[in-house]
Amino acid sequence: MLEIIEKHIRTIEQTTLSTAEEAENFRIQYLGKKGILTTLFADFKTVPNEEKKAVGQALNALKTSAEATLAQIQVKPSARKSGPVEDFSRPGYATPPGAHHPISLVRNEIVSIFERMGFAVAQGPEMEDDWHNFSALNFPPEHPARDMQDTFFLAKDPDWALRTHTSSVQVRTMESQKPPIRIIAPGRVFRNEAISSRSHCVFHQVEGLYIDQNVSFADLKQTLLEFARAFFGEKTEIRLRPSYFPFTEPSAEMDIWWGLENEVDYRMTKGTGWLEIMGCGMVDPAVLESCGIDPGVYSGYAFGMGIERIAMQRFQIPDIRAFYENDLRFLGNFSGAV
Ligand code: DAH
Repeated sequence: MLEIIEKHIRTIEQTTLSTAEEAENFRIQYLGKKGILTTLFADFKTVPNEEKKAVGQALNALKTSAEATLAQIQVKPSARKSGPVEDFSRPGYATPPGAHHPISLVRNEIVSIFERMGFAVAQGPEMEDDWHNFSALNFPPEHPARDMQDTFFLAKDPDWALRTHTSSVQVRTMESQKPPIRIIAPGRVFRNEAISSRSHCVFHQVEGLYIDQNVSFADLKQTLLEFARAFFGEKTEIRLRPSYFPFTEPSAEMDIWWGLENEVDYRMTKGTGWLEIMGCGMVDPAVLESCGIDPGVYSGYAFGMGIERIAMQRFQIPDIRAFYENDLRFLGNFSGAV
């Protein structure tokens, strides 16, 4: 019997198990209910007393050896599968494509239209000092936009705030570059406003600035018409309404003709057929001077628009809060859009 046991031990030592199937067969052969070990242990009773010690030790060694061989393969996860370890011919798992956020889609499109016209992208910090957000832009000290209600001031130093508009990038650019300047500045802005379906305390704007010699209001008008037709369609008509901004003179508000055919048009355009898109104007000479540019030599125009409003109109999104809720059911709608 001792010989038989030792033969089994030698066989096991030479066995390598590489698949789950082999392992299972091995287990059944040696450790199964009707396996070799069970049989040998049953036969053990018949072993003469004087041999019991040696045979018993050999039997235990065989059991340990069988278990160890089986344990080796069990730690290799790939071998646990039945069949080939990897099937490279299997079709891959479908990975759902991601989607751009609607705000990014609209921002990218606006930026690329202006890039085609020769504007370069500029950036500025989201935390600004009073100079860049207000003073250099010709906001008088008592201007209501500086009011605590509109601006998130930093508690430790009220000279600093979260920028309320991307117009601050105008100042930074003019301070650091010499004309001609032609920039487009997309970015996030912050206002201390109650959150509703129409307004949020965080939103996005795109700012534009062009400074050179002899820049006129006609240049502004033509650039905006070009933009409106590239973004809203070839036949789009625009109108410029007189308005007021501290940093532009004259200032205007640009509307596009939306139409007035159904109830939705009435609601969107407040019954006028015109949709307000952006603020714009000729850069106030006082602003040029604040930024170290000679208003006697240079002139320029600026414009600024809110991305959310345009995205809401483009994708028919009724509630601005949808942009910030990270709801995949909403975001998944934009996976086909480029
Ligand atoms: N900064 C303005 C706002 O947040 C928008 C704006 C108006 C920007 C006129 C401009 C401009 O550059 O010329 O409401």
